[in-house]
Amino acid sequence: MKNPPSLLLLASCIPATRAHGMISEIWANGHRYPGWNANANGNLTSHPRSTPAWYTSNAGGGPLHPSDANSPQIVCAKGGANANMSAPVAAGADVRVRWWMADQAWPVGHHGPMLSYLAACGGACKDVEMTGLAFVKIAEKGWVDGSVYQEGFWATDEMIANNGSWTIRIPPNLAPGEYVLRHEIIALHVAFTSTGPYSLDGAEFYPQCVSLLVEGGGAVAVAGGVDARTLYKGDEPGLALNIHTSPDHGGYVMPGPPVWTGAD
Ligand SMILES: *[C@@H]1O[C@H](CO)[C@@H](O)[C@H](O)[C@H]1NC(C)=O
Ligand SMILES: *[C@@H]1O[C@H](CO)[C@@H](O)[C@H](O)[C@H]1NC(C)=O
Ligand SMILES: *[C@@H]1O[C@H](CO)[C@@H](O)[C@H](O)[C@H]1NC(C)=O
Repeated sequence: MKNPPSLLLLASCIPATRAHGMISEIWANGHRYPGWNANANGNLTSHPRSTPAWYTSNAGGGPLHPSDANSPQIVCAKGGANANMSAPVAAGADVRVRWWMADQAWPVGHHGPMLSYLAACGGACKDVEMTGLAFVKIAEKGWVDGSVYQEGFWATDEMIANNGSWTIRIPPNLAPGEYVLRHEIIALHVAFTSTGPYSLDGAEFYPQCVSLLVEGGGAVAVAGGVDARTLYKGDEPGLALNIHTSPDHGGYVMPGPPVWTGAD
């Protein structure tokens, strides 16, 4: 392996335990909803009763990896199951989420891009089959600048600086109806290890689906969407890279399809 990262650097970047990322709060249309907390022991009775966040069972397993890129769980996380409500939001308005990791804020070391996808449910999202959803990417942000030594300052660092919060604008001309927002962090701190001496499995995917009821807006239907199991291959340049030894990520190539701007 060329340019192995120093162990010291690695020690500062890799948490002692496997991480369990989640969206802890969702704001839409002036309402605050609790997120789905799979870390709260996978026990329905201790979970929020009404949330547009899709249910997951990723408490024990942590993130998904490149080897999961084409599996059903990449769609809406491990054990992903339909939320039973859709949060109303006006087309053109922002949905805001707060990321959280088990019992702490998102760890600084988990640098990486943040991506948002939308799929029309063609009816009520609580009844939709997730593997039939066709997602378009509506927003993405990756490497921001080189202000952090070696790893760089990424979208996740911007989110941390904003108290864990991230906003996603719903396209203003989107046709009204129910949609699944698939919001995702891809942490790259150990992305390179799929070919390195460490036994971790590369990039870490943290998807979370949220059901939305889009109101107002225009008449533009999402077009050209794809099954989330085909968004990533797993070994593309935006997923297999060493952010610790390549100081300039200005040429970072975002994984997934190009952003769809058809309803902007
Ligand atoms: C689920 O949560 C309830 C309420 O907190 C608790 O009484 C129960 O023991 C929990 N069940 C399991 C299997 O953890
Ligand atoms: C959603 O499901 C939970 C758990 O089954 C239930 O307690 C809650 O009432 C449901 N919420 C709505 C809005 O249907
Ligand atoms: C940061 O988020 C937490 C969790 O929602 C909240 O309690 C706290 O007030 C927020 N801090 C600021 C400065 O907004």
